[in-house]
Amino acid sequence: MNVTEAVRARKSVRAFLPKQVPDDTLRQILIDAARAPSGGNVQPWKTYVLTGDARNELVKRITDQWAGGKRGEGTEYKIYPDDLGEPYMTRRRVVGFKLYELAGVGRDDKVARMKQMFRNFELFDAPVCMIFTIDRNMGPPQWADLGMYIQTVALVAMDHGLETCMQEAWASWHKTLTETLSIPGHEMVFCGIAMGYEDTSATVNTLRSERAGLEDVKFFGFGK
Ligand SMILES: Cc1cc2nc3c(=O)[nH]c(=O)nc-3n(C[C@H](O)[C@H](O)[C@H](O)COP(=O)(O)O)c2cc1C
Repeated sequence: MNVTEAVRARKSVRAFLPKQVPDDTLRQILIDAARAPSGGNVQPWKTYVLTGDARNELVKRITDQWAGGKRGEGTEYKIYPDDLGEPYMTRRRVVGFKLYELAGVGRDDKVARMKQMFRNFELFDAPVCMIFTIDRNMGPPQWADLGMYIQTVALVAMDHGLETCMQEAWASWHKTLTETLSIPGHEMVFCGIAMGYEDTSATVNTLRSERAGLEDVKFFGFGK
């Protein structure tokens, strides 16, 4: 698979097979993904990798709290601005509706929507959970570096036959994560990734999200 093929084929997978990923594969993915660039080469990313019992224990901790009626702990950063505006709001809605449709969730079925939300915290049955944090004193340039790193993790994983779903949803359990993973106070949880082998028979994995064309690209000096 070349880079363009991987970029085109990558998608968020939301149903995984219960097949374990070898530890060495995960180590190699993280060694290779760390080739991602960062301003000043500061490499501001921090990664917490959970498999096996550790992964199951985290899922259990959220499951228990969810069963007790707790739906999260709030987030330490705003996942979206209050005034997301257009065309962003529509893009968000379109992919959300598509996802609900494929997951068999009725648009007004709040219970089913919450169930789908909860699937995040079961990692969509993925055997691997990664949580990404960044030092609190870092600013937008370093958050951008972190994003490049996470995308690189996702792409390199594909070379090992693995698929991913990035998960901001984990930001809403930052206290549980901090406690469970002993995350130092100077780090902030950005997001997680569910990683594993795709269940290709799952309808939800047929979701192909849309992309805008080149309307947000301004060309200069073309066609001269
Ligand atoms: C930083 C980040 C966080 C995300 N968080 C979630 C999440 O919590 N749950 C989820 O189901 N998808 C999540 N997604 C997946 C997006 O919905 C998805 O990337 C987008 O709709 C485009 O679809 P694609 O990844 O299939 O190309 C996240 C993606 C990114 C980049």
